[in-house]
Amino acid sequence: MCTFQSKRPRLFASSSVNLLGIETSCDESSVAIVKNGTKPIAEATASQVKLMAKYGGVVPELSARKHLEALPILFEECKSQSGGVFNRLSAIAVTNNPGLPPALATGRAFAEGVAFGLELPLVEVNHLDAHLCSVLLEDDPPKDAPKNFQNRVFFPHVALLVSGGHTGIFLSKAPMRHELIGSTRDDAAGEAFDKVARMLGFKYPGGPEISRWADVAFAIPKKSWRLKVNPFTLPLADELFDFSFSGLKTAVRRLIVSLSTDEKNKVPKDIEIEKLGCALPTSLRAEIAYYFQETVTDSLVGKALNAETKFKTGLITLTGGVAANKRLREKLSSFTAKAGIKIKYPNLNRCTDNATMVASAGYFILLNQSQK
Ligand code: KG4
Ligand code: ZN
Repeated sequence: MCTFQSKRPRLFASSSVNLLGIETSCDESSVAIVKNGTKPIAEATASQVKLMAKYGGVVPELSARKHLEALPILFEECKSQSGGVFNRLSAIAVTNNPGLPPALATGRAFAEGVAFGLELPLVEVNHLDAHLCSVLLEDDPPKDAPKNFQNRVFFPHVALLVSGGHTGIFLSKAPMRHELIGSTRDDAAGEAFDKVARMLGFKYPGGPEISRWADVAFAIPKKSWRLKVNPFTLPLADELFDFSFSGLKTAVRRLIVSLSTDEKNKVPKDIEIEKLGCALPTSLRAEIAYYFQETVTDSLVGKALNAETKFKTGLITLTGGVAANKRLREKLSSFTAKAGIKIKYPNLNRCTDNATMVASAGYFILLNQSQK
């Protein structure tokens, strides 16, 4: 939705349309400038992750306060990085939903102020649309990009979006034209990573921690592992496109309780799960992290491949915070390569929340409006 009347109505008459994006949906404050929806010009991001780790998760009011402090500084930084492009902005884009309401409201108020001050239109961007646009950005391919990495995406393609709040598969037909074909029936994958990490006594955010501990387990010879086979079953192992992660989370909980039960089958009195998890030997917690990550990534990759088998687009894209997961990237790369399918995911800094993808989505919203 465009909420301010543009003082420069013929936006697309110019060969370069620069948008300033603002992102504050969760615990990253970010400001960025993007040219023509794909070319990153400037970006400044401040993460609250270290602060929120002290609380074991995001505290919405505190997050909003931190956004308020960070945004003016990031805005100035972005302005000076932009080498004059700031003076040729066409619109301001801001994340409007979904996200933490106090955090979103802060970004929105700041964006309104900037749009009003610069006499530019304000475009509201859905956070999921922004993640889906992150693969359209013309970044250099990651250094470890596999052979079947497709730097310039084409349409239609299958888009797997995996974040802390959402997990879904889309048939992406054009920028900002996505048909949802599968989604989680309960928890998002990132949420499951975070909750399981907490049960095992790992730090917030759980995704990177689970990944780190899974690597620790992987480095230990399997013969000395206590859990010789994967104790978890693949959720919704069917030919369709929906996910479910809450049963897996419960299975982790049950496993922790059973591993904490002594030889006389005495269920521990203190069944506060985090305490039980923390009390398990480190190597065993690492093994659980490993198997959990294997199961989640098998599910994600399996469903994306199901979708590709049906729609035969030739390309699968991977976006959202969980797209930063090394094992997920590896698995998706190897299965797609075997099947002759291309793959695209953003650089690590564009997987988690950032304003560059918001500015990109804002551009395509305006472009679509101008073509109606
Ligand atoms: O997209 P994002 O930054 O925020 C939301 O829109 O939710 O995603 C955050 C999620 C968190 O659940 C975090 O644990 C997860 O992404 N995440 C990861 C990794 N890095 C971040 N999950 C698995 N492996 C990672 N390396
Ligand atoms: Zn996100």
